[in-house]
Amino acid sequence: MKKANIAVLVSGGGTNLQALINAQKKGIIESGEIKVVISNKDGAFALERARRAGIDAVVVPKKECKSQAEFEEKLVSVLSDYKIDLIILAGFMCILSENFTSRFPKRIINVHPSLIPSFCGEGFYGLRVHEAALQKGVKVTGATVHFVNEIPDGGEIIFQKAVAIYEDDTPETLQKRVMRLAEWKILPMAAEKVSQDIVKERK
Ligand code: GAR
Repeated sequence: MKKANIAVLVSGGGTNLQALINAQKKGIIESGEIKVVISNKDGAFALERARRAGIDAVVVPKKECKSQAEFEEKLVSVLSDYKIDLIILAGFMCILSENFTSRFPKRIINVHPSLIPSFCGEGFYGLRVHEAALQKGVKVTGATVHFVNEIPDGGEIIFQKAVAIYEDDTPETLQKRVMRLAEWKILPMAAEKVSQDIVKERK
């Protein structure tokens, strides 16, 4: 069986990337293989995690691009070099235009640290999502993995997992619990599910 070729797009620490690498080692992801990790930022620790795992790590510096179109063209060029079937956004802090997302229908997935449709869309990323959840006083939050389309955090939901909020939570403690109990579990599960679908479609 030929596996689905996966690219993981990152911007920061890369704990979700690490969860994907670990899941691949354990065989939780067996229908796909991470071929390349792409960061929009030089110096992202996620790049180091990729190198340590023996995975190619490529930087496409957004700030050096004159336009969104140029940035996305560069991404597309790396993706086609590696014959990528599935793009996983794992803490990738750039919004992708419709021009990009429409080229890969049902072939881009994203992990978001809330139960969509709460605390999502433009401006809701990273710690801000948890700050907003605490400010609102919700008692349950969680994470969502969804397909990416032209609407930020608006594509079809693949998996969700709920996480309780405690009275003494700070955005930081909440972020860590959501990652540990939800993101690091449902992202590898979704990667395997969509990879399986890609492999089946080929038959
Ligand atoms: C994760 O919590 C991820 O869900 C979030 O950023 C963090 C990245 O951490 N992504 C978003 O907010 C996207 N809207 P990581 O680099 O350690 O995986």
